[in-house]
Amino acid sequence: MFARIARRYDLANRLLSAGLDAGWRRHLVAAVRRAQPRDVLDLATGSGDVAFALARALPSGTRITGMDFCQPMLDEAEKKKSARDAHVTFRPGDGLALPLAAASVDAVTIAFGLRNMADRGRALREMRRVLRPGGRLFVLEFSQPARWFRPLYFFYMRRLAPSIAGWLTGDRAAYEYLCNSIDEFPAREALAGEIRAAGFARVAARGYTLGVVALHEAAAD
Ligand SMILES: C[S@@+](CC[C@H](N)C(=O)[O-])C[C@H]1O[C@@H](n2cnc3c(N)ncnc32)[C@H](O)[C@@H]1O
Repeated sequence: MFARIARRYDLANRLLSAGLDAGWRRHLVAAVRRAQPRDVLDLATGSGDVAFALARALPSGTRITGMDFCQPMLDEAEKKKSARDAHVTFRPGDGLALPLAAASVDAVTIAFGLRNMADRGRALREMRRVLRPGGRLFVLEFSQPARWFRPLYFFYMRRLAPSIAGWLTGDRAAYEYLCNSIDEFPAREALAGEIRAAGFARVAARGYTLGVVALHEAAAD
């Protein structure tokens, strides 16, 4: 499915979120920067927007790996790579069985990707496995917004967004799935519980844009 929408994925993101997605990723990058990691895995990197934003915000000695199991998404990322992104490497890999050694990275980021993992618990345990002691996890994902805003928000997500995206990408069904998966995704507290259950400590969450999106941070102690 991601292979089908890869070519127009960035454009659809910008339009469907009215440009807010870039700001949400900036919050993620600012949080990673505070952790001062040397090796970062950006899992479910897609067309690489988080990996590139990290490359621009972190010192040039930081190694950044963008990983995804969808080669057409990685091809889009490679097309966007410029000279200043020299320390970003894109690699194919499945979040449910990461092709990385245990305790080999300082930070794992995952933006709008955990929702799409076929087995969320297993994906979180894999992220925990590859983090070094003291490493940090950063999950940016859609969440459940403020109660009063939900009717309007879900009308947009269920009715308008799939039509707009269908027109843009020619694949309405893909966006019906993506928008529905937002409905079903756990609220902040419940996701924090899943992150703890995967072996993380000190889980903290912040909401953005009336809680439409949340950033969870956790430590691999
Ligand atoms: C909605 S996109 C998010 C892309 C990017 N992180 C962003 O912020 O725009 C979700 C990505 O998750 C990837 N994905 C889903 N399941 C995966 C898995 N098991 N392993 C690796 N990547 C996966 C998809 O291929 C897709 O590129």
